[in-house]
Amino acid sequence: MKSPMVALQWLPILMLIPVMHSTSVTAKGLRIPRLARLGRISRNSTSFAASSIYHNLQTFCYNQTLDHFNYRPDSFDMFQQRYVINSKYWGGANSNAPIFVYFGEEAPLENDFGVIGILAENAHRFKALQVYTEQRYYGKSIPFGSRNEAFKNASTLGYFNPAQALADYAEIIIHVKEKFHAQRSPVIVVGASYGGMLASWFRLKYPHIAVGALASSAPILYFTDITPAHAYVSIVTKDFREDSQSCHDTIKESWTVIDKIASEPDGLSILSKKFETCKPLNNSSELKDYLAGIYMAAAQYDAPPSYPVTMVCRSIDEPSFGNDILGRIFADMVAYQGELPCYVNEPTKETETDVGWSWQGVAEHVRQCCCYHYCEGYVLMMNLIIVVMRRRFTQHMLTTTGSHCLDVLATTKSDPQWLVAQRKEEVRIIRKWIRNYFSDLDACEKGKHH
Ligand SMILES: *[C@@H]1O[C@H](CO)[C@@H](O)[C@H](O)[C@H]1NC(C)=O
Ligand SMILES: *[C@@H]1O[C@H](CO)[C@@H](O)[C@H](O)[C@H]1NC(C)=O
Ligand SMILES: *[C@@H]1O[C@H](CO)[C@@H](O)[C@H](O)[C@H]1NC(C)=O
Ligand SMILES: *[C@@H]1O[C@H](CO)[C@@H](O)[C@H](O)[C@H]1NC(C)=O
Ligand SMILES: *[C@@H]1O[C@H](CO)[C@@H](O)[C@H](O)[C@H]1NC(C)=O
Repeated sequence: MKSPMVALQWLPILMLIPVMHSTSVTAKGLRIPRLARLGRISRNSTSFAASSIYHNLQTFCYNQTLDHFNYRPDSFDMFQQRYVINSKYWGGANSNAPIFVYFGEEAPLENDFGVIGILAENAHRFKALQVYTEQRYYGKSIPFGSRNEAFKNASTLGYFNPAQALADYAEIIIHVKEKFHAQRSPVIVVGASYGGMLASWFRLKYPHIAVGALASSAPILYFTDITPAHAYVSIVTKDFREDSQSCHDTIKESWTVIDKIASEPDGLSILSKKFETCKPLNNSSELKDYLAGIYMAAAQYDAPPSYPVTMVCRSIDEPSFGNDILGRIFADMVAYQGELPCYVNEPTKETETDVGWSWQGVAEHVRQCCCYHYCEGYVLMMNLIIVVMRRRFTQHMLTTTGSHCLDVLATTKSDPQWLVAQRKEEVRIIRKWIRNYFSDLDACEKGKHH
């Protein structure tokens, strides 16, 4: 990364996305979108399965161990961890029907229902039991009795990490298998984004519990010193350039225009007015950060049918603006955000995920990658990826188009052909894992009788 060649390779990024904090260029100043499965523009899910997923759900609490890795007295404290089961399509223990487990990510579990479609839409095909688990410190799975206590200080937050979360999920799966007398049922774990990182780590760490893991848009290698710091913004830049060169050029030029106006007397109030800011701007970075956030989110969640990158670029390229660069940029902001009373520095309400994720991000140095749309050449950062870790064998699927976690979201009528094919392929691979599992099981049984 230090060689001049490589440095040059990353140069173009700086042209589209301005670098706020001189040397440190990554997530800090730019507020790269979190690993959430959905962007600002929600998809209108029309699938039958997604709506029927609300039925037949049973919620349970598992008495979970606070600390799986120590034997201090307080390690044995318990908390209630939520998981949800849909057994409607399950083929039963006698047929060793499979169990699909969706790993909750950095949000309350209810956020996943009606959004994640892959389990509900395939359960009948596999006669699978569906299980959804909630990550500790989110939703209703809070240790220490309350969120206030749990987030009080480093002593209570110390149990909030992926290693503990994976051990939680292992315990719950074992518990569910006992409860359903399904010890021999194969388990497939599924996760999206950060949840996909959990799923792939789970398959590595607990190979005896899960026969396969599907990790959708999981940036498993997006850590400092593995993936170049600018990789994310570079892909965003590429996305825009590929959609429209003139759109890309206008955005690039706009940073200079904004800085120039900001440096003039009264410039900030002109910008505040032009962009209808909620509070007067204190500096141009405030505005540029916000705009960069929009471009990143548009690229990360560039999903059909709205295709936000195209939507943003259509506003920017609108001919009636002539030479009015700021007019174009303002129009793209409104196109993306919709009609709001004001923009840029809106008062924000901190969500559970904001709080939890800021701890996790700091604690684990989880870099917020997410490439999407175009990932060509960035094998390290995967768009739609399926990770199979079976006997040291890793299989991944890389698509050069798409949007964050699209493959595991509920299907819609507007799904493009490549997505339909992608999902089919995933089902085929999962079927193969299950077949392999049963043939291994058979071989074991036969071995026993000899
Ligand atoms: C989603 O689409 C359906 C059918 O096109 C429509 O009836 C429904 O109102 C839409 N829902 C939302 C939230 O836009
Ligand atoms: C969970 O633990 C509590 C307190 O130890 C106990 O009262 C309860 O019965 C346990 N629940 C289950 C399902 O084991
Ligand atoms: C956290 O709070 C508890 C209870 O008030 C206290 O006993 C503990 O020492 C605190 N830990 C740290 C690291 O401040
Ligand atoms: C701008 O700076 C002033 C003074 O530091 C502060 O009171 C104000 O909240 C800032 N504006 C925004 C939008 O953060
Ligand atoms: C710009 O203003 C915002 C809001 O007041 C402030 O948080 C930020 O630190 C400022 N940035 C720079 C580079 O001065």
